[in-house]
Amino acid sequence: MAVLEVLVYPNTALRQEAICVSEFDDKLKKLINDMRETMYAANGVGLAAPQVGIPQKLVVIDWNGNRYVLVNPRIVEQEGEERREEGCLSFPGIYEEVARPEKIRVLYQDENGDEHDETIEGFLARVFAHEIDHLECKLMIDHLSPLKRTFLRKKMERKAKSA
Ligand code: NI
Repeated sequence: MAVLEVLVYPNTALRQEAICVSEFDDKLKKLINDMRETMYAANGVGLAAPQVGIPQKLVVIDWNGNRYVLVNPRIVEQEGEERREEGCLSFPGIYEEVARPEKIRVLYQDENGDEHDETIEGFLARVFAHEIDHLECKLMIDHLSPLKRTFLRKKMERKAKSA
């Protein structure tokens, strides 16, 4: 297993459109293991493949022992709204209040290609929605007010230049 480099905003690869996974082979399983290792090393609860520079519809999640691999996930229903602070491994040190659905119904495949249809609630629904956003080139910052978005974008750009 290997710890991969997590891309940090404004890296443009984070805006690259992810394509569907079609091969459920050893290469996919290795990538899943590496992504888990990377997520644990960074103390994250979720990681999407585009964050490690791989534009594929793949997410790993581990929140309070709830472990998921989401391949080609799709939110098909959502209910309610909750505002709560969240972070992202691609925005180190930044925590912002973001509105997310309280409850979602999600269709996805696992690492073997088996299909799942699940309803998820609460903080876990937030983690799912956040990670699935990454597969659609959408970042945490896009949910903020234009003013806050501009402020954070400039801050992150300055940080990237000085790195
Ligand atoms: Ni994120």
